[in-house]
Amino acid sequence: MKKAWWKESVVYQIYPRSFMDSNGDGVGDLKGIIQKLDYLKNLGIDIIWISPIYKSPNDDNGYDISDYRDIMDDFGTMDDFHQLLKEAHDRGLKIMMDLVVNHSSDEHYWFKESRKSKDNPYRDYYIWKKGKDSLIDELYQKEYIYEEKQLSKGIELEPPTNWEACFSGSAWQYDEATKEYYLHLFSKKQPDLNWENEKLRKEVYDMMHFWLKKGVDGFRMDVITFISKDQSYGEGIIREGKKYGDGSRFYVSGPRVHEFLREMNEEVLSKYNLVTVGEAPGVGVEDAYNYVGEDREELNMLFQFEHVEIGGGEKGKWSNKPWKLSELKGILTKWQKGLENKGWNSLYWNNHDQPRAVSRFGNDKEFRIESAKMLGTCLHMMQGTPYIYQGEELGMTNVAFESIEDYKDIEIINYYNEEINNYGSDAKDILKSIYARGRDNARTPMQWDDSENAGFTKGNPWININENYKEINSKESLNNQDSIYYYYQKLIKLRKENKIIVYGSYDLILPEHEKIFAFTRTFENQKLVVVCNFSCEQVEFELPENINYKEKNLLIQNYNANKEKEKEKDKDNGNGENQDCIEKFELKPYEARVYILEI
Ligand code: NOJ
Repeated sequence: MKKAWWKESVVYQIYPRSFMDSNGDGVGDLKGIIQKLDYLKNLGIDIIWISPIYKSPNDDNGYDISDYRDIMDDFGTMDDFHQLLKEAHDRGLKIMMDLVVNHSSDEHYWFKESRKSKDNPYRDYYIWKKGKDSLIDELYQKEYIYEEKQLSKGIELEPPTNWEACFSGSAWQYDEATKEYYLHLFSKKQPDLNWENEKLRKEVYDMMHFWLKKGVDGFRMDVITFISKDQSYGEGIIREGKKYGDGSRFYVSGPRVHEFLREMNEEVLSKYNLVTVGEAPGVGVEDAYNYVGEDREELNMLFQFEHVEIGGGEKGKWSNKPWKLSELKGILTKWQKGLENKGWNSLYWNNHDQPRAVSRFGNDKEFRIESAKMLGTCLHMMQGTPYIYQGEELGMTNVAFESIEDYKDIEIINYYNEEINNYGSDAKDILKSIYARGRDNARTPMQWDDSENAGFTKGNPWININENYKEINSKESLNNQDSIYYYYQKLIKLRKENKIIVYGSYDLILPEHEKIFAFTRTFENQKLVVVCNFSCEQVEFELPENINYKEKNLLIQNYNANKEKEKEKDKDNGNGENQDCIEKFELKPYEARVYILEI
């Protein structure tokens, strides 16, 4: 396997709106990030991925860009950005930008031009189609009669396809000026860019060079697997109880996506020493190789979605059904083995689109600290580059705002309205799924201390702070040697000291066990045994007989090892279960242990 700096790194994701506000306007900003660089350096991370900071009307908090070459006013200026880049680099931290080029904002100059007329030079930067009217016969398809019919009707026709947008409703928006529809796979203020157009692709590559020449170290590419659309624009399947069709087979890993990425690689990426990660909803492990295969010359890694989509149902993630640990292990193992020696995994439990890891996969009440550490152990010990989402290192939790008015996320708001208006659902039920799966769970501000507004802002925060900030905050964590923060610091340090954590090959043990997630990592003459209890019960672990070793050492454990050792000694004079016995031991609720074996 090829060695690479980005394989050995740990990434920390910043959602700038909610990270640190330096000027009291209630919104996080670049100067706020600069203030906290030492905090990040101290944690030990290598790369900072910053969610979009470009000019944007903020329909989707910056994922709707109106100028790719400028900084959002809320966040500061280009000078602030240069200072951030310099101060990060001075500390040996790299900066990964978010590249959002499946779509732009409808307030981007290109789109403003594009919608003006059918012969505007920017028309083809976006995807425009006529509406369809299933009642008209072929004759009416002819341009002049089509126009005539539309004019005489004075109303819009049906959208060109039945596709549903990712943020609810139709994926097409009718535009009065030219009487055509444009495609928006997300909100109607996020028109999809037309990658079939070579000129558009060239603009994107030039813009990437613009940032790379400033010295940025890589890109996280937003829904990059959607950029090539199947030009047949066929109808999506309408699932039971749904109004719109699922058009994903026409745009997930579309026919030209690899051609486009190779072109991007040749024109841009290959000219620098970068880290790249593509967001890849809907992509399975078989196809992932085509994106990240070491010989493919496309991307370094993907964010796969299968493990965070676990528990999905008729209403996608909002169904939030129960799931089994064996399923979760199955998914992650499939990715570990599927890319072994061929590509590279990114490892994450949460980000700005997902609920908080400890609330989703752990226990955010009685065992918040233990389960947060356990999840960190499990993730950081797998093969791949780990991503920490801001606040994960503090064990920040989900929120449950009483009223829909307190929610800010367009996905949540659209879903709520769609459910009320089109499906007549009960508001309480809708809120319940929002509590479990809504994106605002991750977007409440960072909890820096126990002062007003958690030390995030001196003004009014743009979104409510989680009420638990007095107990959960970074000041508390930094003052407590047993905190999740210091545990993460240790995990990161271990990665730097032990090549096996980066490069060791992964094997699942006890695949059927519904409480324990255990696996080994093997590298040269060493083996790691990683054992994680995903339940709030005490469970017994037994090492499979085929794992032999000469020597063993406990590398890390999420219950305080020394204290526990003493307790064990008091209890049974050292004869009972303790950290020294690896063949068979009891795991406490959410306990995690990692042993390193000489084999
Ligand atoms: C994925 C991003 O992570 C999400 O926040 C955004 O809403 C969509 N892509 C659209 O850009």
